[in-house]
Amino acid sequence: MIHFSDLSLQHKKMWKEMNLAMSKVIKRNDYILGEDVQEFEKEFAQFCHVKYAVGLSSGTAALFLACESLGIGSGDEVIVPAFTYIATALAVSYTKAKPVFVDIEENTYNIDVSKIESAITKNTKAIIPVHLYGQPANMPEILRIAKKHGLKVIEDSAQAHGATIKMFDGNWHVTGSMGDIGCFSFYPSKNLGALGDGGMITTNDEGIYKKFLMLRDYGRVSKYEHAMIGYNSRLDTLQAAILRVKLKKLDSWNESRRKSAAIYNKLLKGVEGVVTPFAKDSLTHVYHVYAIRSTMREKVFNHLKANAVGVVIHYPIPIHLQKAYTELKYKKGDFPVSEKVAQEIISLPIYPYMKEKDIKFVVKLIKEAVV
Ligand SMILES: Cc1ncc(COP(=O)(O)O)c(C=O)c1O
Repeated sequence: MIHFSDLSLQHKKMWKEMNLAMSKVIKRNDYILGEDVQEFEKEFAQFCHVKYAVGLSSGTAALFLACESLGIGSGDEVIVPAFTYIATALAVSYTKAKPVFVDIEENTYNIDVSKIESAITKNTKAIIPVHLYGQPANMPEILRIAKKHGLKVIEDSAQAHGATIKMFDGNWHVTGSMGDIGCFSFYPSKNLGALGDGGMITTNDEGIYKKFLMLRDYGRVSKYEHAMIGYNSRLDTLQAAILRVKLKKLDSWNESRRKSAAIYNKLLKGVEGVVTPFAKDSLTHVYHVYAIRSTMREKVFNHLKANAVGVVIHYPIPIHLQKAYTELKYKKGDFPVSEKVAQEIISLPIYPYMKEKDIKFVVKLIKEAVV
Protein backbone atom coordinates (compact mmCIF):
# COMPACT_ATOMS: atom_id res chain seq x y z
CA MET A 1 0.00 0.00 0.00
CA ILE A 2 1.31 3.45 -0.91
CA HIS A 3 -0.57 6.27 0.77
CA PHE A 4 -1.37 9.45 -1.12
CA SER A 5 0.12 11.39 1.75
CA ASP A 6 1.71 9.77 4.80
CA LEU A 7 1.88 11.99 7.87
CA SER A 8 2.84 9.15 10.18
CA LEU A 9 6.39 9.19 8.78
CA GLN A 10 7.03 12.80 9.82
CA HIS A 11 5.11 12.42 13.11
CA LYS A 12 7.16 9.39 14.11
CA LYS A 13 10.33 11.47 13.82
CA MET A 14 8.99 14.26 16.04
CA TRP A 15 6.77 12.34 18.44
CA LYS A 16 8.58 13.42 21.61
CA GLU A 17 8.90 17.05 20.56
CA MET A 18 5.20 17.29 19.68
CA ASN A 19 4.16 15.71 22.98
CA LEU A 20 6.39 18.05 24.94
CA ALA A 21 5.00 21.08 23.09
CA MET A 22 1.41 20.02 23.83
CA SER A 23 2.17 19.23 27.49
CA LYS A 24 3.54 22.73 27.95
CA VAL A 25 0.26 24.21 26.68
CA ILE A 26 -1.77 21.96 28.98
CA LYS A 27 0.41 22.95 31.95
CA ARG A 28 0.06 26.64 31.13
CA ASN A 29 -3.70 26.39 30.43
CA ASP A 30 -3.40 29.04 27.73
CA TYR A 31 -5.51 27.36 25.06
CA ILE A 32 -6.86 30.50 23.42
CA LEU A 33 -4.39 33.01 21.92
CA GLY A 34 -1.69 31.64 24.20
CA GLU A 35 2.06 32.01 24.15
CA ASP A 36 2.61 29.59 21.27
CA VAL A 37 0.25 31.54 19.01
CA GLN A 38 2.26 34.71 19.51
CA GLU A 39 5.59 32.92 19.10
CA PHE A 40 4.45 31.02 16.02
CA GLU A 41 3.18 34.23 14.43
CA LYS A 42 6.60 35.83 14.91
CA GLU A 43 8.40 32.77 13.55
CA PHE A 44 6.10 32.38 10.55
CA ALA A 45 6.38 36.10 9.70
CA GLN A 46 10.15 35.70 9.78
CA PHE A 47 9.94 32.58 7.59
CA CYS A 48 7.92 34.55 5.00
CA HIS A 49 10.08 37.70 5.33
CA VAL A 50 7.10 39.88 6.28
CA LYS A 51 6.48 42.17 9.24
CA TYR A 52 3.28 40.57 10.55
CA ALA A 53 1.43 37.27 10.69
CA VAL A 54 -1.91 36.49 12.34
CA GLY A 55 -2.99 32.96 13.27
CA LEU A 56 -6.50 31.99 12.19
CA SER A 57 -8.86 29.04 12.33
CA SER A 58 -8.40 27.93 8.69
CA GLY A 59 -7.17 28.94 5.26
CA THR A 60 -10.74 29.70 4.26
CA ALA A 61 -11.09 32.07 7.23
CA ALA A 62 -7.82 33.72 6.18
CA LEU A 63 -9.11 34.32 2.63
CA PHE A 64 -12.53 35.52 3.79
CA LEU A 65 -11.15 37.90 6.41
CA ALA A 66 -8.55 39.12 3.91
CA CYS A 67 -11.39 40.20 1.59
CA GLU A 68 -13.32 41.68 4.51
CA SER A 69 -10.31 43.58 5.88
CA LEU A 70 -9.85 45.23 2.48
CA GLY A 71 -13.47 46.42 2.54
CA ILE A 72 -14.61 44.06 -0.23
CA GLY A 73 -18.37 43.51 -0.20
CA SER A 74 -21.66 43.68 -2.07
CA GLY A 75 -21.35 45.07 -5.61
CA ASP A 76 -17.61 44.37 -5.79
CA GLU A 77 -15.86 41.87 -8.03
CA VAL A 78 -12.77 39.82 -7.27
CA ILE A 79 -10.73 37.96 -9.89
CA VAL A 80 -10.09 34.30 -9.09
CA PRO A 81 -8.72 31.45 -11.24
CA ALA A 82 -11.40 29.11 -12.58
CA PHE A 83 -9.27 26.12 -11.58
CA THR A 84 -8.49 26.03 -7.85
CA TYR A 85 -9.94 24.61 -4.66
CA ILE A 86 -13.40 26.10 -4.21
CA ALA A 87 -12.45 27.86 -0.93
CA THR A 88 -10.71 30.61 -2.94
CA ALA A 89 -14.03 31.58 -4.53
CA LEU A 90 -16.16 30.87 -1.46
CA ALA A 91 -14.19 33.42 0.54
CA VAL A 92 -15.23 36.10 -1.98
CA SER A 93 -18.87 34.95 -1.91
CA TYR A 94 -19.01 35.13 1.91
CA THR A 95 -18.45 38.90 1.62
CA LYS A 96 -21.36 39.13 -0.90
CA ALA A 97 -18.90 40.24 -3.59
CA LYS A 98 -18.82 38.36 -6.91
CA PRO A 99 -15.98 36.03 -7.89
CA VAL A 100 -15.02 36.63 -11.52
CA PHE A 101 -13.23 33.67 -12.99
CA VAL A 102 -10.21 33.72 -15.31
CA ASP A 103 -8.79 30.73 -17.17
CA ILE A 104 -5.44 29.12 -16.30
CA GLU A 105 -2.19 28.43 -18.17
CA GLU A 106 -1.99 24.96 -19.66
CA ASN A 107 1.57 24.38 -18.45
CA THR A 108 1.63 25.74 -14.87
CA TYR A 109 -2.13 25.43 -14.05
CA ASN A 110 -1.93 28.90 -12.49
CA ILE A 111 -4.01 31.93 -13.49
CA ASP A 112 -3.33 33.03 -17.08
CA VAL A 113 -2.09 36.58 -16.60
CA SER A 114 -2.74 37.45 -20.27
CA LYS A 115 -6.48 37.02 -19.57
CA ILE A 116 -6.74 39.08 -16.38
CA GLU A 117 -7.12 42.56 -17.85
CA SER A 118 -10.14 41.66 -19.98
CA ALA A 119 -11.91 40.48 -16.81
CA ILE A 120 -11.38 43.79 -14.99
CA THR A 121 -14.42 46.11 -14.72
CA LYS A 122 -15.12 49.29 -12.75
CA ASN A 123 -16.30 47.03 -9.91
CA THR A 124 -13.11 44.96 -9.64
CA LYS A 125 -11.41 45.42 -6.28
CA ALA A 126 -8.85 42.64 -6.05
CA ILE A 127 -7.11 39.68 -7.65
CA ILE A 128 -6.59 36.41 -5.77
CA PRO A 129 -3.80 34.46 -7.48
CA VAL A 130 -3.49 30.89 -6.23
CA HIS A 131 -0.03 29.28 -6.04
CA LEU A 132 -1.55 26.01 -7.15
CA TYR A 133 0.05 22.70 -6.18
CA GLY A 134 2.96 24.64 -4.63
CA GLN A 135 4.09 26.59 -7.71
CA PRO A 136 4.07 30.40 -7.43
CA ALA A 137 1.74 32.19 -9.85
CA ASN A 138 3.23 34.84 -12.15
CA MET A 139 3.50 37.47 -9.39
CA PRO A 140 5.60 40.06 -11.27
CA GLU A 141 2.89 40.37 -13.93
CA ILE A 142 -0.01 40.15 -11.45
CA LEU A 143 1.47 42.95 -9.33
CA ARG A 144 2.05 45.05 -12.46
CA ILE A 145 -1.59 44.66 -13.56
CA ALA A 146 -2.87 45.30 -10.02
CA LYS A 147 -0.85 48.50 -9.74
CA LYS A 148 -1.99 49.74 -13.15
CA HIS A 149 -5.68 49.24 -12.24
CA GLY A 150 -5.49 50.14 -8.53
CA LEU A 151 -6.38 46.62 -7.35
CA LYS A 152 -5.46 44.77 -4.17
CA VAL A 153 -3.69 41.41 -4.33
CA ILE A 154 -4.50 38.57 -1.93
CA GLU A 155 -2.19 35.60 -2.42
CA ASP A 156 -3.78 32.21 -1.85
CA SER A 157 -0.72 30.40 -0.51
CA ALA A 158 -2.69 27.55 1.02
CA GLN A 159 -0.65 25.04 -1.01
CA ALA A 160 2.67 26.84 -1.20
CA HIS A 161 4.37 27.34 2.19
CA GLY A 162 7.97 28.27 1.47
CA ALA A 163 7.78 28.43 -2.34
CA THR A 164 9.79 31.29 -3.85
CA ILE A 165 9.86 33.34 -7.05
CA LYS A 166 12.38 35.76 -8.57
CA MET A 167 10.87 39.24 -8.66
CA PHE A 168 11.54 42.61 -10.37
CA ASP A 169 14.40 43.35 -7.99
CA GLY A 170 16.21 40.13 -8.95
CA ASN A 171 15.65 38.76 -5.43
CA TRP A 172 13.78 35.61 -4.50
CA HIS A 173 10.54 36.29 -2.62
CA VAL A 174 8.50 33.82 -0.60
CA THR A 175 4.84 33.27 -1.49
CA GLY A 176 2.55 35.22 0.78
CA SER A 177 5.00 38.14 1.02
CA MET A 178 4.36 39.91 -2.27
CA GLY A 179 0.69 40.91 -2.31
CA ASP A 180 -1.22 43.03 0.21
CA ILE A 181 -2.11 39.90 2.18
CA GLY A 182 -0.89 36.29 2.02
CA CYS A 183 -3.25 33.50 3.10
CA PHE A 184 -2.12 30.10 4.34
CA SER A 185 -3.88 26.89 5.34
CA PHE A 186 -2.51 24.46 7.92
CA TYR A 187 -4.94 21.68 6.99
CA PRO A 188 -3.13 18.50 8.17
CA SER A 189 -1.89 17.32 4.76
CA LYS A 190 -0.53 20.72 3.67
CA ASN A 191 3.26 21.18 3.41
CA LEU A 192 2.99 22.70 6.88
CA GLY A 193 0.02 21.04 8.52
CA ALA A 194 -1.54 21.15 11.99
CA LEU A 195 -3.28 18.28 13.75
CA GLY A 196 -6.61 19.78 12.72
CA ASP A 197 -7.65 23.03 11.05
CA GLY A 198 -5.58 26.18 11.11
CA GLY A 199 -4.66 29.17 8.98
CA MET A 200 -2.59 32.35 8.87
CA ILE A 201 -2.39 35.69 7.12
CA THR A 202 0.85 37.51 6.40
CA THR A 203 1.23 41.21 5.62
CA ASN A 204 3.60 44.15 5.77
CA ASP A 205 0.75 46.59 6.45
CA GLU A 206 0.36 47.53 10.11
CA GLY A 207 -3.23 48.70 9.59
CA ILE A 208 -4.27 45.35 8.09
CA TYR A 209 -2.44 43.52 10.88
CA LYS A 210 -4.27 45.45 13.60
CA LYS A 211 -7.62 44.91 11.90
CA PHE A 212 -6.98 41.17 11.78
CA LEU A 213 -6.26 41.03 15.50
CA MET A 214 -9.79 42.31 16.03
CA LEU A 215 -11.53 40.50 13.17
CA ARG A 216 -10.43 37.07 14.41
CA ASP A 217 -11.45 37.79 18.01
CA TYR A 218 -15.04 39.13 18.04
CA GLY A 219 -13.93 42.63 17.01
CA ARG A 220 -12.44 42.97 20.48
CA VAL A 221 -10.31 45.87 21.69
CA SER A 222 -10.44 44.74 25.33
CA LYS A 223 -12.19 41.83 27.08
CA TYR A 224 -15.76 43.17 26.77
CA GLU A 225 -15.26 46.10 24.43
CA HIS A 226 -15.96 45.47 20.72
CA ALA A 227 -15.08 47.97 18.01
CA MET A 228 -16.35 46.02 15.00
CA ILE A 229 -18.44 43.00 13.99
CA GLY A 230 -15.69 40.41 14.35
CA TYR A 231 -15.65 36.64 14.29
CA ASN A 232 -14.34 33.71 16.29
CA SER A 233 -11.57 32.69 13.87
CA ARG A 234 -8.52 32.13 16.08
CA LEU A 235 -5.73 29.61 15.68
CA ASP A 236 -5.73 27.25 18.70
CA THR A 237 -2.68 27.41 20.97
CA LEU A 238 -2.31 23.61 20.77
CA GLN A 239 -2.14 23.79 16.97
CA ALA A 240 0.33 26.68 17.12
CA ALA A 241 2.53 24.62 19.48
CA ILE A 242 2.58 21.74 16.97
CA LEU A 243 3.15 24.09 14.03
CA ARG A 244 6.17 25.65 15.79
CA VAL A 245 7.76 22.20 16.01
CA LYS A 246 6.96 21.47 12.36
CA LEU A 247 8.03 24.86 10.97
CA LYS A 248 11.64 24.04 11.82
CA LYS A 249 11.46 21.09 9.41
CA LEU A 250 9.54 22.77 6.61
CA ASP A 251 12.51 23.68 4.41
CA SER A 252 13.91 20.15 4.53
CA TRP A 253 10.46 18.65 3.91
CA ASN A 254 10.01 20.92 0.87
CA GLU A 255 13.43 19.85 -0.36
CA SER A 256 12.46 16.21 0.09
CA ARG A 257 9.26 16.79 -1.93
CA ARG A 258 11.32 18.49 -4.66
CA LYS A 259 13.65 15.49 -4.79
CA SER A 260 10.72 13.08 -5.12
CA ALA A 261 9.26 15.27 -7.89
CA ALA A 262 12.60 15.21 -9.72
CA ILE A 263 12.64 11.40 -9.55
CA TYR A 264 9.07 11.21 -10.89
CA ASN A 265 9.98 13.67 -13.68
CA LYS A 266 13.01 11.61 -14.68
CA LEU A 267 11.21 8.28 -14.65
CA LEU A 268 8.16 9.63 -16.47
CA LYS A 269 10.14 11.51 -19.13
CA GLY A 270 9.07 10.49 -22.61
CA VAL A 271 6.24 8.25 -21.42
CA GLU A 272 3.63 8.67 -24.13
CA GLY A 273 0.30 10.02 -22.95
CA VAL A 274 1.73 11.54 -19.77
CA VAL A 275 2.42 15.25 -19.18
CA THR A 276 4.69 15.90 -16.17
CA PRO A 277 4.59 19.17 -14.18
CA PHE A 278 6.23 22.22 -15.70
CA ALA A 279 8.16 24.38 -13.24
CA LYS A 280 9.72 27.64 -14.38
CA ASP A 281 13.45 28.27 -13.68
CA SER A 282 12.58 31.56 -12.00
CA LEU A 283 10.83 29.87 -9.08
CA THR A 284 10.96 27.03 -6.57
CA HIS A 285 7.97 24.71 -6.70
CA VAL A 286 7.31 23.03 -3.35
CA TYR A 287 5.14 20.22 -4.77
CA HIS A 288 2.29 20.19 -2.31
CA VAL A 289 0.76 18.21 -5.16
CA TYR A 290 2.62 16.30 -7.87
CA ALA A 291 0.09 16.28 -10.70
CA ILE A 292 0.47 14.70 -14.11
CA ARG A 293 -1.96 14.90 -17.00
CA SER A 294 -3.15 12.01 -19.14
CA THR A 295 -5.87 11.61 -21.72
CA MET A 296 -6.12 8.09 -20.30
CA ARG A 297 -6.71 9.34 -16.78
CA GLU A 298 -9.42 6.87 -15.90
CA LYS A 299 -7.22 3.93 -16.82
CA VAL A 300 -4.29 5.34 -14.85
CA PHE A 301 -6.48 6.15 -11.84
CA ASN A 302 -8.14 2.73 -11.78
CA HIS A 303 -4.87 0.83 -12.24
CA LEU A 304 -3.19 2.73 -9.39
CA LYS A 305 -6.21 2.25 -7.11
CA ALA A 306 -6.39 -1.46 -7.97
CA ASN A 307 -2.77 -1.76 -6.83
CA ALA A 308 -3.39 0.04 -3.51
CA VAL A 309 -1.78 3.33 -4.54
CA GLY A 310 -3.46 6.47 -3.21
CA VAL A 311 -4.40 8.89 -5.98
CA VAL A 312 -6.58 12.00 -5.95
CA ILE A 313 -8.04 14.29 -8.61
CA HIS A 314 -7.29 17.94 -7.83
CA TYR A 315 -9.83 19.00 -9.18
CA PRO A 316 -12.45 17.20 -11.27
CA ILE A 317 -14.80 20.19 -11.74
CA PRO A 318 -13.61 23.75 -12.40
CA ILE A 319 -15.23 26.32 -10.13
CA HIS A 320 -17.33 28.03 -12.84
CA LEU A 321 -19.11 24.70 -13.49
CA GLN A 322 -19.82 23.92 -9.84
CA LYS A 323 -23.51 23.77 -8.92
CA ALA A 324 -22.79 26.21 -6.09
CA TYR A 325 -22.09 28.88 -8.71
CA THR A 326 -24.97 28.31 -11.19
CA GLU A 327 -26.34 31.76 -10.40
CA LEU A 328 -23.22 33.34 -11.96
CA LYS A 329 -24.41 31.82 -15.28
CA TYR A 330 -21.09 30.53 -16.53
CA LYS A 331 -21.30 27.65 -18.98
CA LYS A 332 -19.22 24.83 -20.39
CA GLY A 333 -16.66 26.21 -22.85
CA ASP A 334 -16.14 29.50 -20.98
CA PHE A 335 -12.70 28.44 -19.68
CA PRO A 336 -11.46 25.72 -22.03
CA VAL A 337 -8.04 25.22 -20.42
CA SER A 338 -9.50 24.76 -16.93
CA GLU A 339 -12.06 22.34 -18.34
CA LYS A 340 -9.46 20.31 -20.24
CA VAL A 341 -7.10 20.16 -17.25
CA ALA A 342 -9.96 19.10 -14.95
CA GLN A 343 -10.53 16.11 -17.23
CA GLU A 344 -6.91 15.02 -17.48
CA ILE A 345 -5.23 15.88 -14.19
CA ILE A 346 -4.27 13.26 -11.62
CA SER A 347 -2.26 13.72 -8.41
CA LEU A 348 0.29 11.06 -7.51
CA PRO A 349 1.51 10.23 -3.99
CA ILE A 350 4.07 12.70 -2.65
CA TYR A 351 5.18 13.49 0.88
CA PRO A 352 8.45 14.06 2.77
CA TYR A 353 10.61 10.95 3.15
CA MET A 354 8.73 9.09 0.38
CA LYS A 355 10.84 6.09 -0.63
CA GLU A 356 12.36 5.98 -4.11
CA LYS A 357 11.21 2.39 -4.53
CA ASP A 358 7.61 3.52 -3.99
CA ILE A 359 7.99 6.22 -6.65
CA LYS A 360 9.40 3.60 -9.03
CA PHE A 361 6.45 1.31 -8.32
CA VAL A 362 3.93 4.11 -9.02
CA VAL A 363 5.69 4.92 -12.32
CA LYS A 364 5.77 1.25 -13.32
CA LEU A 365 2.00 1.07 -12.82
CA ILE A 366 1.45 4.26 -14.86
CA LYS A 367 3.50 2.82 -17.73
CA GLU A 368 1.41 -0.35 -17.61
CA ALA A 369 -1.80 1.67 -17.69
CA VAL A 370 -0.98 3.90 -20.68
CA VAL A 371 0.25 1.22 -23.12
C1 LIG B 1 -5.94 26.63 -2.80
C2 LIG B 1 -6.64 26.52 -1.48
N1 LIG B 1 -7.25 27.61 -0.98
C3 LIG B 1 -7.87 27.56 0.21
C4 LIG B 1 -7.92 26.42 0.96
C5 LIG B 1 -8.70 26.41 2.23
O1 LIG B 1 -7.94 26.10 3.34
P1 LIG B 1 -8.62 25.40 4.62
O2 LIG B 1 -8.94 24.00 4.27
O3 LIG B 1 -7.59 25.51 5.69
O4 LIG B 1 -9.84 26.20 4.95
C6 LIG B 1 -7.29 25.27 0.48
C7 LIG B 1 -7.20 24.03 1.30
O5 LIG B 1 -7.86 23.14 1.33
C8 LIG B 1 -6.64 25.31 -0.77
O6 LIG B 1 -6.04 24.24 -1.27
